Amino acid sequence: MPHRHPAVKSPPVSTREPKADPLHAPAAPRRFSPAGPLTGRIRVPGDKSISHRSIMLGAVASGETRVTGLLEGEDVLATAAAMRAMGAEVERTGGGAWTVRGTGLGRLTQPAAALGMGNSGTSTRLLMGLVAGHPVSAHFTGDASLSRRPMGRVIDPLTLMGARFEAAAGGTLPLTMHGCSPATAITYRLPVASAQVKSAVLLAALNTPGNTTVIEPVPTRDHSERMLRGFGADLEVGVERGERIIRVTGPATLTGQTIEVPGDPSSAAFFAVAALLVPGSDLVIENVGLNPTRAALFTVLRQMGGRIEELDPREVGGEPVADLHIRHSALTGIAVDPAFAPSMIDEFPVLFVAAALAQGRTITTGLEELRVKESDRLAAMAAALRIAGATITEQEDGLTIDGTGGELLAGGAEAIATRLDHRIAMSMAVAGLVSRAGVEIDDTGPIATSFPTFQMLLDSATGQEPTQ
Ligand code: S3P
Repeated sequence: MPHRHPAVKSPPVSTREPKADPLHAPAAPRRFSPAGPLTGRIRVPGDKSISHRSIMLGAVASGETRVTGLLEGEDVLATAAAMRAMGAEVERTGGGAWTVRGTGLGRLTQPAAALGMGNSGTSTRLLMGLVAGHPVSAHFTGDASLSRRPMGRVIDPLTLMGARFEAAAGGTLPLTMHGCSPATAITYRLPVASAQVKSAVLLAALNTPGNTTVIEPVPTRDHSERMLRGFGADLEVGVERGERIIRVTGPATLTGQTIEVPGDPSSAAFFAVAALLVPGSDLVIENVGLNPTRAALFTVLRQMGGRIEELDPREVGGEPVADLHIRHSALTGIAVDPAFAPSMIDEFPVLFVAAALAQGRTITTGLEELRVKESDRLAAMAAALRIAGATITEQEDGLTIDGTGGELLAGGAEAIATRLDHRIAMSMAVAGLVSRAGVEIDDTGPIATSFPTFQMLLDSATGQEPTQ
C-alpha cells in the first residue's frame, strides 16, 4: 500500500459560499510538466450529477434536505442559485455540507431575473424539466459554450407535455420557457441516449397527474431514478424487449432526505489515468462512485491492461462506491466497444490520453454525442493531442489513436485550446505529466465548473508544493 502522503487534507471549512464569475474571469493559462509519480491517498469532490439532483429535488420536496459531500463547483452553484431564485432556501453550512428547505412540489415561484446557467448543460436541461410542470416562466442564459448546445432535445418532449418556449433559432440559449400546470402526462421514447433528456421528462412528470413513461432504448446514468425513489416518488422501472421503461405517477409527494454524495468517478478518471501512465505511481482514490451506468472507463482501462483494484466495496447515498487502488501499468490499445459509450460518455477525453501512451492502436466509435458536449470533444481532443505530439485520426463518430507504447509525448510550446471545456483542460493536464516538454493549456478557468480542487490534489498526489 502506498504511504508517502497521509490522507489529503480538505480545504479549510468555511460557510462562505464559493463565488465565481466564469463569464468575466480572465483566461488562466498554465503549463503542465512531468512531475513525480502519483502516490498516497486522495479524495475527489462529490459527484456532479448527484449534487445537481440533490439540490433540485430538495428544493421541490417538503421539509428539509441535508446534503454532505456536495460538489461546490460552478455548475452546481448555478443550480443552487436558480433554486433560490424560485423560492427554495439553499444554504451552505460547511465544506460540502448544505441544507435545502424545499417549497413543496408545485410551489416553485416565478424567478425575478434570468437564470444564469453558466457552462452547465445539466442545470439547464434538468431545470427546464422541473419548471415545465409549474405555472412559472423562466429565462435561461449561459456562456458561449452552453449557448451553442442543443436544447431541442428537451424542448420537444416538454412541449408535448404543455410547456411553451421562445428560443434562439436552432433551439439554443438564451431561451424563455413557460411551464404549465397541470401538464400532460406523455409516453416518450428517447431519440438520443441522454440522461439529461430522460431526467427532464421525469422531473416534469413529478407535478403532472397520471403516468408519464420514458422509454430508454440504451440505458444511461440512473441517478435521477435512484434519488426520486429515495425522496418518495412513485417510480417503477422495467425492461421490455431490451428497453428500459421508467414510469412516474404524478403528482408525487416528495419528502426531504439526508444525502451523502459519493466521489465523482468522472473526476477520479483524471487521476486514475495519470496514475496508470506516470511510472512509479501507486495511488488510492477513496470513495469513488461506481454506479454501473457511470463506471465503464475503469472496465475499459482494465481491458487495456490497467491495474485498477476496487477496495472495500460499499454503498454510499444509495450508490455503489469503492476505493480505487491504481498502479502504473503498460497499456495496450484496443477497439473500445461502442456499447460502453453511455456509461463513460464524459471520460473519453481522458481515455484518449491513455490511448496516446498505449502500445498499438485504440479505435473508438459511436461517439457522435461527444460533438455536442461543452465543446466538440472529438475535434478538440484530436487537435490538442496532435499539438502534444500524438498520432490521431478523427472520424465522424470517434478517434483512432496510435500510441507511443509508453514513450513520453513530445509536448511543446503551442497552447492547447480549452474551448470553455473543463474536461479538455484536465485531460490535457494529464497529457502534460507524460510529455517531454510539458503541455501549455490556454485557460484552466473552466476546471472550476466541476473540479475546483483539481490542482491542489494534483500537487498533493505528485508531491509538489501547492501551486499558487
Ligand atoms: C449528465 C448526463 C450526461 C453527461 C453530463 C451529466 C447528467 O449528459 O454528459 O455531464 O447529470 O444527467 P447527456 O445526458 O447529454 O449525455
